[in-house]
Amino acid sequence: MNKRPDAARPLTFRFILLAAAVSALASIAPSAHGDSSRAAARPASTATTIEPSKYVGPGGCAATSCHGSVKPRADTRIFQNEYSIWVVQDKHSRAYMALTSPIGERIGRILGIGKSEESPKCLACHALDVPPEARAKTFDLSDGVSCESCHGPASAWLGPHTTRGWTHAQSVAAGMYDTRDLVSRTEKCLSCHLGTQDKFVDHEMLAAGHPDLYFELDSFSAVMPRHWKIPRESAPGVPEAGADDPWFGVRDWATGQAVQLRAALDRVAWRAHGANWPEFSELQCFACHHDLTPPEQSWRQERGYPGRRPGDPPWNASRYAVFAILAHEIDGATATQLDAQMTQLAKQMSVLNPDRDAVASTAAAARQLADRLIARIQAQPYDRAMTARLLLEISGHAGEISGQGERAAEQAAMALDSLFIASSRNAPPANAAEIRAAINGLFQLLENPSTYDPNTFAAQMTKVNALLR
Ligand code: HEC
Ligand code: HEC
Ligand code: HEC
Ligand code: HEC
Repeated sequence: MNKRPDAARPLTFRFILLAAAVSALASIAPSAHGDSSRAAARPASTATTIEPSKYVGPGGCAATSCHGSVKPRADTRIFQNEYSIWVVQDKHSRAYMALTSPIGERIGRILGIGKSEESPKCLACHALDVPPEARAKTFDLSDGVSCESCHGPASAWLGPHTTRGWTHAQSVAAGMYDTRDLVSRTEKCLSCHLGTQDKFVDHEMLAAGHPDLYFELDSFSAVMPRHWKIPRESAPGVPEAGADDPWFGVRDWATGQAVQLRAALDRVAWRAHGANWPEFSELQCFACHHDLTPPEQSWRQERGYPGRRPGDPPWNASRYAVFAILAHEIDGATATQLDAQMTQLAKQMSVLNPDRDAVASTAAAARQLADRLIARIQAQPYDRAMTARLLLEISGHAGEISGQGERAAEQAAMALDSLFIASSRNAPPANAAEIRAAINGLFQLLENPSTYDPNTFAAQMTKVNALLR
């Protein structure tokens, strides 16, 4: 588990992660998933003043008759083995331990923050670091990222939520976080997997040894692994009304893309007014972190430096590179405006000393468009035809996407992977094995990011595209 997060690690690690996603998803029965966003009832606005909610810790959920069953149960609406999954398979249960590992401690030493496991800078994402007055007696910091990190403080709903007729909306009104809503769910994941102004991973932390952060909702949910039923059930074995969308993987991918673009735009905007600027982790890592080659072998020199002064590090636009295709698919007019804003932002960011105000204001303008797209994406139905079009369009933009760097290529590989899994679950093509092998080939090309070559990657994408036709 504790592999070194050195320069080579993120890469290998990423490949393992994605390979795991494939097998995890393959085991999901050909069934459906609710439109979490629309089906979820809203909390009653008339919530009476309740005592401030406290965090009780995962022990409060662990009884075998609650969420600590060893095996999933078929006679209940939920599996009831959520605790067992979390404690055995989910890395979140080991998040605190990562801080006490040799690498975790060394990061603390390099940054001069003392013991990592005592530093709020690290605990913010690796544990449930809530103020003392919000900790119940059973609370323990070393539980890492536990149930209430995602589901919210339980003291006010822990007892009542087991009673007959109690609804999700009632729990939400009593302080439960609404993970059923896909946008809220993604925002929750991104608070740690992309960072916020209060908790973040910057280049200083990367240089000290922290792995780089990246995210894709559908793959990451599979790897976690999921401890919830798809589709969600209203009674044992009975899918909740409207919760049987067989294209849930496409919806998860689409929502995740849109929400992470918005969060990334917010991040570059607040960073533009931060202490360290330019912030290297907003730029393309491998524009700086690559080996030099003789001039006749350099694809960089062959390509030239369109849109920037030769040698200036380019902005990392990977959170838009693939999403742009979906944006055009669902709302062409907004997407065209967003294209213009993103081109502008890339130009402003890809200079040695980006103008802070200009960057923040372009990012804010682009954010409004991303916001509009999120609303569209939630209302959008997903089906076989749309998934097939997306697969072809993404793989068809081989040169354009791969030219935007290793991180953009990685998003393309994850997108094709997610969309292909959704499509083969519902309508497997005759050449599924060949397509699978070709997509795996994309991940292999990302294994050593410092040697990433856009031409080879584009050729592999074109191969995937030909097989999909
Ligand atoms: C913004 C949230 C955030 C903050 C703040 C943060 N981390 Fe992390 N950390 C993560 C995430 C997310 C991962 C997992 C990354 C992945 O695998 O995609 C991680 C992974 C790690 C790992 C690798 C764990 C493993 O299993 O190999 C170590 C070590 C680590 N963090 C240490 C630290 C230390 C030390 C600090 C404080 C200086 C810190 N982190 C602060 C979010 C954060
Ligand atoms: C990293 C975030 C995260 C952690 C940690 C986490 N969960 Fe979840 N949980 C989710 C998400 C996301 C869902 C899916 C939301 C949905 O469909 O309701 C979910 C769903 C569930 C469900 C099913 C709800 C339903 O109505 O179908 C239960 C029960 C549950 N979690 C219990 C737990 C317990 C108990 C723990 C701790 C042992 C835990 N979770 C830890 C994110 C998390
Ligand atoms: C409170 C912060 C926090 C939240 C919220 C959170 N994570 Fe994490 N996540 C982490 C940290 C920290 C790690 C690294 C744990 C380790 O490796 O020790 C991690 C690791 C992971 C990993 C394992 C990656 C690997 O190395 O294999 C996956 C997958 C993941 N998270 C998915 C999710 C998803 C999906 C959500 C939202 C439903 C989510 N996380 C919400 C903090 C968080
Ligand atoms: C503008 C150039 C630049 C960009 C962009 C950049 N870095 Fe760095 N990085 C550096 C420099 C300079 C160092 C310090 C190297 C040294 O002191 O030997 C460094 C150090 C590091 C180290 C430690 C090096 C080692 O050998 O252990 C890691 C890891 C790292 N960066 C990761 C990243 C990641 C991940 C990204 C993208 C999110 C990134 N960097 C983006 C310039 C950059």
